[in-house]
Amino acid sequence: MQKLTAVILVGGPGTRLQPLTDDRPKSVLPVLNKPFMEHFIAYLRQYGIEDIILTLSYLPDVIREYLGDGSRYGVHLTYCLEEEPLGTAGAVKNAEAYLGNTFFVLNGDVFTDMDLGDMLAFHRENKAKATISLTWVDDPSAFGVVETDSEKRVKQFIEKPPLAEATTNWINAGTYILEPEVLEYIPANTHYMFERGLFPHLLGTGAPVYGYPYRGYWLDMGTPEKYFSLNVDLLLSKVTGPLVSISGQNGIYYSQDAVIHPAAVMAAPVMIDGGSRIGQGVRIKGPVVIGRDCRLEDGASIENAVLWDNVTIGAGARLNQCIVSNNVTIGSNREVVNCVVTPSQTVPLLRQ
Ligand code: GTP
Repeated sequence: MQKLTAVILVGGPGTRLQPLTDDRPKSVLPVLNKPFMEHFIAYLRQYGIEDIILTLSYLPDVIREYLGDGSRYGVHLTYCLEEEPLGTAGAVKNAEAYLGNTFFVLNGDVFTDMDLGDMLAFHRENKAKATISLTWVDDPSAFGVVETDSEKRVKQFIEKPPLAEATTNWINAGTYILEPEVLEYIPANTHYMFERGLFPHLLGTGAPVYGYPYRGYWLDMGTPEKYFSLNVDLLLSKVTGPLVSISGQNGIYYSQDAVIHPAAVMAAPVMIDGGSRIGQGVRIKGPVVIGRDCRLEDGASIENAVLWDNVTIGAGARLNQCIVSNNVTIGSNREVVNCVVTPSQTVPLLRQ
């Protein structure tokens, strides 16, 4: 069987999700208490993709420290660094030495359960040089729109069209399958993008470029709000993933070394990581994720929240619709609603 390789795009300006990414790129933000990239790698591995190249520009050492050589996850990771971001296609050109066969390229900030095996079969059936996954959105005006014919061959790309001018709601979903010869068209060491550069160029040469439509779950983790939704969607089982086989009772999942007072009240879905302590009379109303070594002091109440590690919620404090990052303490009896809280700032989570 041919070895399958994937390039993951995790660099560029989009790797920041302020204020959550001061000390880490968004690709390692915790999703159900595991770095996002761990979910991503497990997803690829399901399809036999074990050679994975990460193209990095922002805080590369943080990612390398988390993921290492990949052996912990049963894959082989290679890191390709860019001193200055080279753009989506430029980043893949930079990894050319590792790309001898048909390969996948994936935006590193998308969570989907799209079937990559089926997409590969579609690519081969059509003898495509490039296949672009497509997802349907109600408002395509913030995205790269892709027009196809009845055979699903791409006719045109339109970048961020005004709503009234969009001719289709199918947009580029950020997963591609490419034949290695298309790399010839990407200039080396130059900032170059797929959407505005390589794909329109391939169409111009008459090369077969196909769109693979997918109607299942697709989320681009482009804002703290989307990051929050991803955690909530996974907890509510709107989508699942290979690392999300959470076992527990009635939707309450907690690590064996979490300490939960018998007089705490919890409503599912709730996930609590190791070392966390939940005090007397605490009320937790899911969806809620609580990271490692958190403390919810007596009488605190939290609802609809994602807490990272080492967070303390003071006695009697009330939290609703919040993301709280590492090492934050919320004082006793405080009320925090609809906020992203980090040690240095507090900003609204959802725009009203
Ligand atoms: P907009 O479309 O501009 O709103 O931002 P986006 O981040 O959703 O899309 P973009 O096409 O810029 O990025 C898609 C994916 O490619 C994201 O996972 C980015 O992290 C990644 N990316 C973007 N530019 C670069 C780059 O220069 N180098 C690398 N390695 N990755 C990049």
